[in-house]
Amino acid sequence: MTVARVGSRTVQHDTADDDAPQEPRPDVDRSVRTYHPRRGRMTEERKARTAVLLPRYGLPAGQVDVAELGHGGPVVLEIGFGLGHATLEMAQADPSTTILAVDVHTPGVHRLLVRLDRLAIANVRVHEGDAVELLDERIPESSLAGIRIFFPDPWPKARHHKRRLIRPDLVRLMASRLQPGAPLHCATDWVPYADSMVEVLDAEPLLRNAYPLWAPRLERPLTKFEQQGVEKGHEVRDLVYVRT
Ligand SMILES: C[S@@+](CC[C@H](N)C(=O)[O-])C[C@H]1O[C@@H](n2cnc3c(N)ncnc32)[C@H](O)[C@@H]1O
Repeated sequence: MTVARVGSRTVQHDTADDDAPQEPRPDVDRSVRTYHPRRGRMTEERKARTAVLLPRYGLPAGQVDVAELGHGGPVVLEIGFGLGHATLEMAQADPSTTILAVDVHTPGVHRLLVRLDRLAIANVRVHEGDAVELLDERIPESSLAGIRIFFPDPWPKARHHKRRLIRPDLVRLMASRLQPGAPLHCATDWVPYADSMVEVLDAEPLLRNAYPLWAPRLERPLTKFEQQGVEKGHEVRDLVYVRT
């Protein structure tokens, strides 16, 4: 077991395999990735800094003990935090909620870690990797107080639609990890994707729309991708579905 400090807390990283990964769900097609393969380049200095900070802000190995991660308080998963602008603002606005922020984009992970350290924010945990794998293997059923997906890659070409995060098998997986009543909050500036989200989310029996259709723009900081979309004249749509 290794021990690291997060703010005023001590985090234990289990190295034993007593909490081996869950069996992957047979209905989740993990071979179709939802992200671009680019990882971004990092200098040696940045890599070294990430290596120091990840054990402090990352996840303990094995199954995620959600109650422990959130110190008994709510834990919300943010999938695809990008550069982490929204993550930082949301964490500072609500210190009693722990945000588990996940992205595959290495430079974004570095950026978020450095800012968490600089601002001494203790209610964010960062996972560098595929959120689908994390949900499938390491996050228990009915454990999360929410999932946030802001401006996911729209994959506009028809042959790429299967790579969208909001597709039936992944939505079923996400819904199964939410506590009853917990929200799945999506926002996009790509209207055809928003329409497809409604179709997919409406078809999932574990979810129901919390609004007649579109949600009002909830407390949600402006992200880099939202800013870019707005500058191009795109309309932004929010959707909030809750676990039944
Ligand atoms: C278009 S960006 C949006 C970033 C940010 N939410 C924003 O609004 O500025 C989508 C992000 O989702 C990440 N992503 C896509 N699929 C993912 C997955 N399965 N697991 C983790 N991150 C993923 C990408 O790496 C990328 O950083």
